[in-house]
Amino acid sequence: MKPLFELERVGVVLGRVRALQDVSLHILAGERVALVGANGSGKSSLLRVLNGLLPPSEGRAHVPPSHAQAMLFQRPFLLRTSARNNVALGLWLAGVPWRDAKVRALDALQRTGLADLAQRRGRELSGGQQQRLALARAWARQPQALLLDEPTASLDPHAKREVEALIAEFAAGHAGQPMTLVFASHNLGQVKRLASRVVYLERGRVLADVPVARFFDDAQLLRISPQAHAFVRSESA
Ligand SMILES: Nc1ncnc2c1ncn2[C@@H]1O[C@H](COP(=O)(O)OP(=O)(O)OP(=O)(O)O)[C@@H](O)[C@H]1O
Ligand SMILES: [Mg+2]
Repeated sequence: MKPLFELERVGVVLGRVRALQDVSLHILAGERVALVGANGSGKSSLLRVLNGLLPPSEGRAHVPPSHAQAMLFQRPFLLRTSARNNVALGLWLAGVPWRDAKVRALDALQRTGLADLAQRRGRELSGGQQQRLALARAWARQPQALLLDEPTASLDPHAKREVEALIAEFAAGHAGQPMTLVFASHNLGQVKRLASRVVYLERGRVLADVPVARFFDDAQLLRISPQAHAFVRSESA
């Protein structure tokens, strides 16, 4: 099967910083990949390369076209209009006629438990609601791949669980077609629950790229990457 995302020896230089170095990564349709690593290790940069927002300074990136994927940023970017219009505008910009966009928007709000808030201004919603709204907007487009940058980092425990459950549901896909999921997370519990594969980054390099079970097996991870092992240790402490 041809990978959906194909990065070959990608390097990214931002100003004077090497944000990514020699990153080779193939992601197949239906995989659920977690990007983990300390602050500044390159997770957001890698998501931006996968999304096509950030062209590599070195190497080659082959990624799906923008209509086939949706990205959720750490802080949701909402427009100054109703929740429903926020979703509908996303669809309209992707080429869906306005009438259909409004119908699909309502459906997406129902799926994310926001139907009652459809007429509220997006920016007046709580943090958790805004994050769900951003997810609704992404899901409504029915992308092949969903890229999420720390989707639950700023949420309280209750909202975290809700948003995580939605992500799991969306990743399961529809009509037997699972969605491809790539997400950055500092929450190792969440990584365990959502990911099938873990990519560990340190200073812009991939030091481990393994199935999730192996990442959380102490002895195996120590053999694969002592740095990744030390990171998991310190995060779990
Ligand atoms: N616009 C920019 N200009 C210059 N350097 C940048 C820019 N964005 C990020 N960097 C640098 O690139 C490196 C990787 O940053 P990146 O945001 O990808 O890390 P991250 O793993 O997402 O971190 P965090 O966990 O804090 O979100 C860091 O050293 C960062 O300071
Ligand atoms: Mg980041």
